[in-house]
Amino acid sequence: MEQITIKNISKNYSGHRILDSINLTIDAGESVAFMGHNGCGKSTFLKIIAGLVTPTSGSVVYHQPVLFHYVPEKFMPMPLTARAYLKRMGRLDGLSTAETARQIEALGNDFFLGELLDVPLKYLSKGSLQKISVIQALLKTPEVLILDEPLSGQDEASQEVFLQKVNQLRNQGVTILMSCHEQHLVDAIAQKTYMTRDGKLVPCQQHSERTCILILANVHNRPLYEGMERYGNHYRWQVKEGDVQQILLELLQNGWELRRMYDEKSY
Ligand SMILES: Nc1ncnc2c1ncn2[C@@H]1O[C@H](COP(=O)(O)OP(=O)(O)OP(=O)(O)O)[C@@H](O)[C@H]1O
Ligand SMILES: [Mg+2]
Repeated sequence: MEQITIKNISKNYSGHRILDSINLTIDAGESVAFMGHNGCGKSTFLKIIAGLVTPTSGSVVYHQPVLFHYVPEKFMPMPLTARAYLKRMGRLDGLSTAETARQIEALGNDFFLGELLDVPLKYLSKGSLQKISVIQALLKTPEVLILDEPLSGQDEASQEVFLQKVNQLRNQGVTILMSCHEQHLVDAIAQKTYMTRDGKLVPCQQHSERTCILILANVHNRPLYEGMERYGNHYRWQVKEGDVQQILLELLQNGWELRRMYDEKSY
């Protein structure tokens, strides 16, 4: 079911075109990631979808009224403690005081915040601020969750917790729109991925569809596998990226030697 239609969105800053006539339809429950180099316009695009930045032209249509939460790339450091801030946000979300307190305690524990919940936000590190921002978005389950690089300052354990939480939300049918630089996180969360390039969105292949090429030496004259092709003195085999670890292990155990490996970007 179509939930958000992005119609011909363009955005100029100081006469420079950042986004150029972007059209995109997002279905309810979809998880979509936007990648691309610094300054290519990911945050601008997410802010336009969240209604925080006005496009130069074009429009964003929400087909039903939805509760959406937006986690910004940079969180404003404030003199409030994290707990006081989250209590206020819970109230804005319409949660009861008891429910908000329970959620703050539970999510604070999940994200290893402990006593940091009672430290003023302005003294928290970038990673801890990001966690508060993510917790705020999770206090009440939204219909659409917009995350602008939610993981760039997080340690590995917190990234794992975050992945679990986001996957839980995805399974509950929450639409997830996210900008991210880390390919493995995009692979873990997104059903669709776009590269933002020259103001346009270019669809990327998903993890499950991507392949890589192995160049192998058959030093012990082993039987060939189906799909292997002669490549000079070696053999060339195109395999699914998701299977590559398993395949390499088997090949090496069977006496094959790996000479080169290309991922999809390099051929
Ligand atoms: N409020 C603004 N006024 C003027 N220029 C802006 C404004 N916001 C963003 N820009 C410019 O628009 C371009 C895109 O910025 P944006 O923050 O959307 O990029 P990004 O893809 O999110 O980058 P990053 O990966 O570094 O977060 C940049 O060149 C930036 O300088
Ligand atoms: Mg950004």
